Amino acid sequence: MWPLPGAIAYGGDYNPEQWPRAVWDEDVALMRQAGVNLVSVGIFSWAMLEVSEGVFDFTWLDDLLDLLHANGIAVDLATPSVSPPAWFFHAYPHARAVDADGHVMGFGSRGMAGHSAPEYREAIVRVASALAERYGDHPAVVLWHVHNEYGVPVGEDFSASSVASWRRWLQQHYGSIEALNAAWGTAFWGQTYRAWEHVVAPARTPTTVNPAMKLDWARFTDDMLRECFRLERDAIRAHSDRPVTTNFMAHQSWNTDLWKWAREVDVVSDDHYLWSPDPDAHVALALSADLTRSVAGGKPWILMEHSTSAVNWQGRNIAKRPGEMSRNALTHLGRGADAIMFFQWRASRRGAEKFHSAMVPHAGTSSRVFREVTDLGQQLRQLGEVQGSQVRAEVAVLYDWESLWAQDLDWRPSDDLAFRERMRSYYERLWRDSVPVDFAHPEADLSGYSLVVAPASYLLTTIAADNLTAFVRAGGTLLVSCFAAAVDEHDAVHEGGFGAPLAEALGVTVEEYLPLRAGDTCTVDFGGQRLAADVWTEDLVLTGAQVRGRYLGGPADGAPAITRHELGSGVGWYVSTRLDTDSLAPVLAAAYADAGITPPALPEHLELMVRHGESADYAVAVNHHDDAAHVALSGTEIFSGQEIDGELTVPGGGVAVVRTAPTPDRDDVITPAHAVPQQVRNTYA
Ligand code: GAL
Repeated sequence: MWPLPGAIAYGGDYNPEQWPRAVWDEDVALMRQAGVNLVSVGIFSWAMLEVSEGVFDFTWLDDLLDLLHANGIAVDLATPSVSPPAWFFHAYPHARAVDADGHVMGFGSRGMAGHSAPEYREAIVRVASALAERYGDHPAVVLWHVHNEYGVPVGEDFSASSVASWRRWLQQHYGSIEALNAAWGTAFWGQTYRAWEHVVAPARTPTTVNPAMKLDWARFTDDMLRECFRLERDAIRAHSDRPVTTNFMAHQSWNTDLWKWAREVDVVSDDHYLWSPDPDAHVALALSADLTRSVAGGKPWILMEHSTSAVNWQGRNIAKRPGEMSRNALTHLGRGADAIMFFQWRASRRGAEKFHSAMVPHAGTSSRVFREVTDLGQQLRQLGEVQGSQVRAEVAVLYDWESLWAQDLDWRPSDDLAFRERMRSYYERLWRDSVPVDFAHPEADLSGYSLVVAPASYLLTTIAADNLTAFVRAGGTLLVSCFAAAVDEHDAVHEGGFGAPLAEALGVTVEEYLPLRAGDTCTVDFGGQRLAADVWTEDLVLTGAQVRGRYLGGPADGAPAITRHELGSGVGWYVSTRLDTDSLAPVLAAAYADAGITPPALPEHLELMVRHGESADYAVAVNHHDDAAHVALSGTEIFSGQEIDGELTVPGGGVAVVRTAPTPDRDDVITPAHAVPQQVRNTYA
């Protein structure tokens, strides 16, 4: 259901309601100049559309859609549910969301109402229905954009309507109060409930709140947000056959389990912004793109928002340097995006985001940014043939939002060991080794991969552990990082102790976690190489594994640190400490060897991504270094039309896309991304 078949979509959020009508004409002329073919309209327009309850004014939107259509610009039409109008909150003050401290969210910013408020739900269905009824067949509309970034700025809600939904949700999932008490372990600290109406939400408590309750609260919040999405989506579908999306935030999302969300949309979309303090933010960008493609099941996805230059909401908002925007865009494309969109088309003169970059900056069209925007538009027009081609990977990195929610709860053995940090370090190692990866849910079919890496699998169900064990037995290589398989789906320590569900696959369990003091380090002797470790060590119990690395120093001095275990025709590696990206190199190299993977020898800082099409492959090269880089390739460089005979030169900071002969889909080594499990776990099913 790609909205613009055979084309890479290019454009951004378009908020013309902030501008006089005359500017719209200039906008569309400039959009054509820039090669824009898709804009997202109406994301924050509720107040302009429904001027008072049930009274709609569509005149401006009629005019706008006709104008865009007349200029050949397609529309991704949004429902405005992220920004209810002032009259709504005035009429329904109880629909405002409430935070964990009991603060009621005021008006004058943005952010949805409480997800469970009946008046809010009714209103979003009314608006979505009205929009779809009027524009469902409009020739400009090729896509529906429901809401904006579910979960931010408002996800959790502690209002009365939310707490009432929470009790209903628990009742539905547990059936009996006894089952709830058992799952939450309420015998601890005397929390036993005797009646549903006694059950509270995990708001501010005297000390840390029951972690199983908190974990369920995260699931509940995710479910409620998805219910709101479904209400709008179904209201649209009643009047329109155009695909429906909502913009995710992949690795930055907290409240949304994107494995579940991806099954609800017709096309996956993602927003990504560079995090300025990160000197290698392009690695985080690549991670986010791979994760998005993976939740999309390998299908084309939309980069719905990124920035042409600086954002405005970080402490120090660093402007992109010449060429950086194009490198960012091409990295998303190389990792599966078939649409490159920005927040936003024209920089706002007023409001909270006036210092945010845009496609048309405050400096106007004779600016570096607008020139680069126009150049990128031209390049993307040349890449229409890439649309629909796919990325293949033989490595899967396990990613589970439930494990993120659980691991980052309070009172873990060490605050220093965090889900996202481990994910990034392992991913960065694979990125630096130029090994393409998919992300996968731990209960997904992993049989197409040769190597599965589990950087942060603190919460691992026995179903997932059995899945991983079967993967190893059948010949796969599994590499598991520390603090894995500690708890089950209710944050209860697994029977048999830490890591017990993976004992068969890894030949090792953990007797005790031995975190380090802040700043303390130790070393691992890995076959003579000295690897730097910090934050975390473990006291391992070998149940069959061979020791490949030993601690030198630290509380586990002399004891096993890294192990390798053979099971069936596969191998399970366990790394019981925190290694940085450099120290992970020899460990990953050993795992690649077991998995039969040979990483390509590429120049450092040259990011090479391959998309496989039916009649050609496309090598997308992005040079993150100031010096030119050379890579062995033959084919046609699409932007220049130049024939490449054996060696491509990518200028410093530059990009290139080379059409090459297609590689056959070799089942034995590469598989299309298929990481989305058929049936995402429903803990309570
Ligand atoms: C996004 C949001 C946009 C805009 C942008 C600024 O998270 O969806 O509306 O605020 O951030 O970077």
